[in-house]
Amino acid sequence: MLTFHHVGYLVKNMENSLCAFEALGYSIERPPLEDGIRRAFIAFMKKDGVRIELIQPEDRESPIYGLLKHYKNVPYHLCYATDDFEGDICRLSAEGFSLFTEIEPAPCLENRNVAFLMNAHIGMIELYEKDLF
Ligand code: NI
Repeated sequence: MLTFHHVGYLVKNMENSLCAFEALGYSIERPPLEDGIRRAFIAFMKKDGVRIELIQPEDRESPIYGLLKHYKNVPYHLCYATDDFEGDICRLSAEGFSLFTEIEPAPCLENRNVAFLMNAHIGMIELYEKDLF
């Protein structure tokens, strides 16, 4: 079963974005941490039970940098936690979602596996191999 986990929000400047979301009433759930695989700083914030993930690419070598060039500050994926990671990837692959990155651990999510899938009608989603967080 999929449960909503977070909105992934691409940001250009982590500190400024944290301040802006704080002004909206969000509080920091996890302060920025470096994700060496994606060469990005990642923080989590929460408000009204909604979790957002702020992702700031470190430099041009980051695989996410290209998105920043096009979109600036923008929400760009919804993440769902699953207790059947492989099973859901298989099921969704048969329903119009295609895996477009390697399945890799996410250092900022307890090194649990995450996968990114693309759908022609709703864009990018992330699946997160559920843990306690
Ligand atoms: Ni995410």
